[in-house]
Amino acid sequence: MFVEKMVCSRCRTEYNPLSNPILCRNNDNGRLDIVYDYDRVAESFSKSSIEKRVPRGVWRYWELIPVDQRYASPLGEGNTPLLHAQRLGGELGVRRLFLKDETRNPTASFKDRAMAVGAAKAVEMGRKDVVIASSGNAASSLAAYSASLGLRCTAFVPEDVAIGKASQLLLYGARVLRVKQVEEGRDPTVDLMMQTVKELGWYPCPSFGPFNPYQVEGPKTIIYEMVEQMGWSVPDFVFIPTGSGCLATGIWKALKELRLLGLIENYPKMVPVQPSGNMPLVRAILQGKSFEEVEPEKWPKSIASGLLDPYPWDGDAAIEGVRTTGGTAVAVEEEEIRDAVKKLARLEGVFAEPSGAVGVAAVQKLLEQGVLDASDTVVVLVTASGLKEPEKIASTAELPLIQPALSELMRYLS
Ligand SMILES: Cc1ncc(COP(=O)(O)O)c(C=O)c1O
Ligand SMILES: [Zn+2]
Repeated sequence: MFVEKMVCSRCRTEYNPLSNPILCRNNDNGRLDIVYDYDRVAESFSKSSIEKRVPRGVWRYWELIPVDQRYASPLGEGNTPLLHAQRLGGELGVRRLFLKDETRNPTASFKDRAMAVGAAKAVEMGRKDVVIASSGNAASSLAAYSASLGLRCTAFVPEDVAIGKASQLLLYGARVLRVKQVEEGRDPTVDLMMQTVKELGWYPCPSFGPFNPYQVEGPKTIIYEMVEQMGWSVPDFVFIPTGSGCLATGIWKALKELRLLGLIENYPKMVPVQPSGNMPLVRAILQGKSFEEVEPEKWPKSIASGLLDPYPWDGDAAIEGVRTTGGTAVAVEEEEIRDAVKKLARLEGVFAEPSGAVGVAAVQKLLEQGVLDASDTVVVLVTASGLKEPEKIASTAELPLIQPALSELMRYLS
């Protein structure tokens, strides 16, 4: 293992990785950022060595993963395609538009990269009970990885969790509890999860850095893969569907690491995207505010159900990434999200849930505003499959019902 130390993102207290810390002892909601011995990593983490490796999900990049790969699940996350979206790009007006298609993961969202690492760490630490607060994707992912590794999983989800996600959770054998939203600006699932950590000693594994620093390292591999798929170069822009900001944090970390290791020379501009019904992080970025000034959204609301965290727990690193890379942030409207889901499916054959498609809506907006232009190279992360909540977009009532006769078909066609 190449982890050198862990450092709290708030109070800068340093921790010995051998003690397997999870939370900062100062209770300051800091994330224990993982620092590797990059000189040692560099001895084997080179272009030629990586290109020779078989795809093994997040473990392809084992030097920069904080868990021994002996504890890995065989489910096989990651190694997702980078699709050149020529038809969608043509319609939007940008020639080099690429989709990192994260719908192909074992439970159909990018969260599998995070939970592959978080759950393996629980096994490495000898823990049995794992607990998560999530709007659905991270929970169903943790449930699958728990099933695969023999862990007991409890998931706290919102009252109106989507049926696709709830059924995954139940069938993977998790204990699932829906929790009522009672107080504005707070996520009650997170509060309850932390009570079980303190009172019952369970291992917290949500996809928020301040409550589990290990899982942050999984989604980094999206960027390692993307850079390798682009011939060790970076695009001009990366669009990131954003709720808690943990994915954006991982992306920023991966970019810094690749540059430090000399594998890339510059950064793409990072663009977090949120729905206008829950945009605390985007608002702070657009208003030039610091992370400390971020105000939680009082009552988040959007069809992008995976992006409804009222508070961006990992917004500090997301903001730093956006500012350092010269990026920006975008809020998109409900109608724009619906339109993006349809365009992705109709023009590219990629079926995304609303949360997974917001990046496409944001590309369209930045093209209209002249921030993006036709010659830019753009990567959009498509983070989860539309099969999880198809009812948000389509209904069988829209399908015509005909008699089994060719004449009926002809009448319909005319
Ligand atoms: C489909 C999808 N995309 C993106 C995100 C955003 O990730 P983060 O909360 O790390 O910002 C989520 C989070 O739940 C999600 O479910
Ligand atoms: Zn701290």
